[in-house]
Amino acid sequence: MSASQSAARRTVLKGAAALAGAAGAGLTLAACSTEAGGAAGSPAVPGGPVELGAATDVPVGGAKLYREQKLVVSCPAEGRYKAFSAQCTHAGCILDKIEEGQGNCPCHGSRFDVATGKVLRGPAADPLAAVPVKAEGGKLIAG
Ligand code: FES
Repeated sequence: MSASQSAARRTVLKGAAALAGAAGAGLTLAACSTEAGGAAGSPAVPGGPVELGAATDVPVGGAKLYREQKLVVSCPAEGRYKAFSAQCTHAGCILDKIEEGQGNCPCHGSRFDVATGKVLRGPAADPLAAVPVKAEGGKLIAG
């Protein structure tokens, strides 16, 4: 390898290292973005009544996540329902699943009791916002 070829190779390698560093920084920023949940800046609770479908979709003693409507509904006893915003109170991500009565925030790992809205694990400090809900004609209506 000639001296000029060696210098060119070093330049290419430096460029690749700089690109890798920039890409790494970008990934770090993306991982911390509130855009991951797609909800930052949008209201935590619906502005008006939202129909959620059949009340029987929510199991007695369980809960159902309505991710599109940003709501979670629990059913502590037959015919009784409680609804909460599914928007995490930490940075606004939308809960992604319910496991063993706990709503999970995919952004930073907060957990909420979906029967009460209370924080079970931070970093969120505030409970989920309660939303009025009722069953009418077999359908759930929240807001
Ligand atoms: S947005 Fe950070 S834990 Fe939910």
